[in-house]
Amino acid sequence: MNPGVIKFGYLVAATLFILGIKGLSHPRTAVRGNLTGALGMLLAIVLTLLDQNIIRYEIIIAGFIVGGVIGAVLALKIRITAMPEMVALLNGFGGGASVVVAGAALIATTFATGAPQGQSLVATVASGIIGAVTFWGSLIAFAKLEGLFTESSVQLPGHQLVNIALFAGSLVLGAMIVTNPSGAVVYYWVMVIVASVLGVLLTLPIGGADMPVAICLLNSYSGLAAASTGFVLANNALIITGSLVGASGLILTQIMCKAMNRSLVNVLTGGGQASDGATQSSDEIYEGRVKSASAEEVAMLFDAARRVVITPGYGMAVARAQHAVRDLANLLEERDIEVEYGIHPVAGRMPGHMNVLLAEAEVSYDKLKEMDEINPTFAQTDVVLVIGANDTVNPMANTDPSSPIAGMPILEVSKAGAVVVIKRSLSAGFAGIPNPLFAADNTLMFFSDAQQAALDIVAAIKEG
Ligand code: TAP
Repeated sequence: MNPGVIKFGYLVAATLFILGIKGLSHPRTAVRGNLTGALGMLLAIVLTLLDQNIIRYEIIIAGFIVGGVIGAVLALKIRITAMPEMVALLNGFGGGASVVVAGAALIATTFATGAPQGQSLVATVASGIIGAVTFWGSLIAFAKLEGLFTESSVQLPGHQLVNIALFAGSLVLGAMIVTNPSGAVVYYWVMVIVASVLGVLLTLPIGGADMPVAICLLNSYSGLAAASTGFVLANNALIITGSLVGASGLILTQIMCKAMNRSLVNVLTGGGQASDGATQSSDEIYEGRVKSASAEEVAMLFDAARRVVITPGYGMAVARAQHAVRDLANLLEERDIEVEYGIHPVAGRMPGHMNVLLAEAEVSYDKLKEMDEINPTFAQTDVVLVIGANDTVNPMANTDPSSPIAGMPILEVSKAGAVVVIKRSLSAGFAGIPNPLFAADNTLMFFSDAQQAALDIVAAIKEG
């Protein structure tokens, strides 16, 4: 096929990716954005297959089947609560693919020409280093999130110095590839090994509570690795797509850092987390102060309420309670109670986790308020219903500088008239620390699975 047509087609695909990402920036246009991006990807795949620069169709079909089956099984089996683990793995696969593709291209050109040339070698070095860091960093992130490995920050003696030495070592090997192309293949794989160790050591110090930031950053790295591979293959679509992933991942990293009040340097060095625990133990905080309530008592609270705010967290995802919560909110609205949802940016286990669940339950987007918008309204709120949230409503973030969430902005629910917390026990959330909110004077604990609790409160309101 005419190379001009292929190039133009890639440009159209890239434009569709850009429009797709624009669509994804708002929940209302997200579905259309997703479809636009998918259309761009379909176009890019068809063009690549029509182009002459490909290996045999049989091999592509075999890869398509193997990859497609693995992807479909993963997508069907993965628990919604294990999404961050899945994203970590996908980032890692992206980085790994860049390493292998750039390496294969290097071997092919070395065989064809004896010594590959300048510009593509620089891009090959970038793919190898960034891709290897992404692959191994993502595997460590996955192992930490799955609990296969400690979630705490792990620091080895002279950790940062070793990292600097490894980074410098990868760059020196990269320079050797560029200046001595005849030995490039051997240097490349040695460089990949050095960068792999760097990837492991870069992710080890990142503590569990900072993992969301790390995953966004690794996502950005996987995009940069793909963009470099685009230069290796002289493929414009890959360059543009990789750059888009790199840039959007970086923006998301910045948003997450702000949401958790961490600087990126602190996250990367494990420096933002003062400790893994809190100054006070759960016994000291809860002893004799926790008041529990039944569904009927919660229903009575709503009798006198004019305004209710629902703040969901990870427990709502575990309990798949979003539909029951929506039904409860609808019932309250039928009784002329104003209902809004307060969404913390890191509630749940992935960016936008609560928004996705509530959108699935067809809760109107207008009712979902971001933290900065909802916080000033708590003082005028009669009842806050905390559904399976813990760290995101934990006042210790403001009061205990030694806690792992110190400095993280929270939903200031305790300013409301009354707070009802629905969770199964007094167990800690992701950060592993107790929560003084559960022992506050205006808090009632409703110990139950979130879905069952919402159903029980609905029944109690209807009976009352
Ligand atoms: P968490 O602090 O993790 O607390 C969730 C609570 O849900 C737990 O205390 C648990 O208590 C309760 N729960 C679990 N299953 C439940 C069920 N079936 N019914 C009712 N409650 C249930 O949640 P959060 O407030 O959403 O905070 C999120 C945390 O995850 C933050 O620390 C954040 O940094 C971290 N994180 C976020 C992300 C992103 S990007 N969002 C990614 C990784 C980590 P019981 O066991 O007592 O029921």
